[in-house]
Amino acid sequence: MAIHKVLRMGEPGLLRVSKPVTDFNTAYLDALISDMWETMQAENGAGLAAPQIGINLRIIIFGFENNPRYPDALEIPSTVLINPEISMLSDEMDECWEGCLSVPGMRALVPRNKHIRYSGFDATGQSFTREVKDFHARVVQHECDHLDGILYPQRITNMQSFGFIEELESNGLMTAQPCDD
Ligand code: NI
Repeated sequence: MAIHKVLRMGEPGLLRVSKPVTDFNTAYLDALISDMWETMQAENGAGLAAPQIGINLRIIIFGFENNPRYPDALEIPSTVLINPEISMLSDEMDECWEGCLSVPGMRALVPRNKHIRYSGFDATGQSFTREVKDFHARVVQHECDHLDGILYPQRITNMQSFGFIEELESNGLMTAQPCDD
């Protein structure tokens, strides 16, 4: 078990399309996932994708309760999602403040689909499907983007909202639209 360095924007490894996991229930996969949890918790993240620690495999983890980085967000069950597939269940979009451990200290307003279904596998190879909305849907879309080499700044439609958390907060901008409405 180890806490890994989280790669920051500018590292080419974050821009790659990751490969599907083919072997489940292995010591390698279990160790990798436990390192991901440890790393995510150390950084107070809401989610983490394997490429963020330099492993280009289609693995994401997410979930939290009372996360200090997202004080107003609803709880999301702790989930390991491997080889994920997402379908959008409506065209309705939601815009709220998003951050990323690979883009530390910054946030921007990012539009995401409000209502999605996702499916994939857990670490043992068991498949599962969930239908989710709002912040849970946002976190999954954000983490899945990492598996295709996409970071949230590429999703920003209003670049004027992109800024440093400290400045956005001290200017009263970030409180305008909480993520879990
Ligand atoms: Ni991220």
